Amino acid sequence: MIEITGLTKKYGQFTALDNLNLTLDEGTVFGFVGANGAGKSTTFLIVSTLLQATSGDVRINGISVREKPAEIRKMIGYMPDFFGVYDQLKADEYLDFYGASYGIPEAERKKLIPQLLELVNLTHKRYAYVDLLSRGMKQRLCLARSLIHDPKVLILDEPASGLDPRARVEMRDILKTLKSMGKTILISSHILPELAEMCDEIGVIDNGKLIAHGSVAEIQKKLQGEKVITVRLAGEAVRHVDFFEEQPFVTNIELPSDDELSFTYRGSDEQQISMLKSAMNNDLPVVSFNEHVTDLEDIFMEITKGAD
Ligand SMILES: Nc1ncnc2c1ncn2[C@@H]1O[C@H](COP(=O)(O)OP(=O)(O)O)[C@@H](O)[C@H]1O
Ligand SMILES: [Mg+2]
Repeated sequence: MIEITGLTKKYGQFTALDNLNLTLDEGTVFGFVGANGAGKSTTFLIVSTLLQATSGDVRINGISVREKPAEIRKMIGYMPDFFGVYDQLKADEYLDFYGASYGIPEAERKKLIPQLLELVNLTHKRYAYVDLLSRGMKQRLCLARSLIHDPKVLILDEPASGLDPRARVEMRDILKTLKSMGKTILISSHILPELAEMCDEIGVIDNGKLIAHGSVAEIQKKLQGEKVITVRLAGEAVRHVDFFEEQPFVTNIELPSDDELSFTYRGSDEQQISMLKSAMNNDLPVVSFNEHVTDLEDIFMEITKGAD
């Protein structure tokens, strides 16, 4: 349904997107996760036809954003990460304005607007001024706006950012409803657990490159079996680096402190037992031996290390 091929975007000399490839089936809720500046908004802007790629293309149901942007716009609803200022417009007038700009006849808009407001839990704010709504309400109004022409695909750029926990739950529930309506949803966030809960698939973007893509379970599985082990030794840890370097499945040996040595371990539990036995047989003065299994959040922290 959505095919992103070789998508590259340069801003001058700077490569914001680097050969992104991604295929999504109809009805998928895809979570796009990455630190600030990773390239999420750039990708979404290109998919939404609001920005031209330097090379590569996006096809939705076989239609190219490059060749037929007007066709694409009918199929997608885009919710930007930034909500503008709308002086003196009430919630229903705001939706009416967007409905009209999509060419929806007035009689139809009159029926549609209360339905959309109901869908995003804003019925009680129908006649409230947009500028006076809370951030969560503005986000939901913006979501309603992106739904006005009943698009098959929704592209939501950080819809939960800046929301308090309650507003987040509300947003999540609305997205569940939209999924049950059969929409294909692309949603970005820099908060991984939030996406893991409501998405079918996750893509991780870092510095304009897609570095992982799969179901939430697949990504978790791929990253399991990798753990970091920290060994505390009596005396100087540096003297025992040789021993660990010779052990199978050990990589990335580091010395976090004078008496500690840590490394990444990819062996099984049985292999780990053998390693510990061997340490004992070699009279290594092991005081403690700790393993830390990485979870999704750790991976994300690792991936986004150093980003702002
Ligand atoms: N109009 C622009 N001109 C120059 N650089 C830009 C522009 N828009 C975005 N960038 C840069 O491209 C990179 C990706 O930005 P963006 O897609 O907004 O990331 P994200 O949405 O993941 O935070 C960032 O380094 C950003 O500074
Ligand atoms: Mg962004």
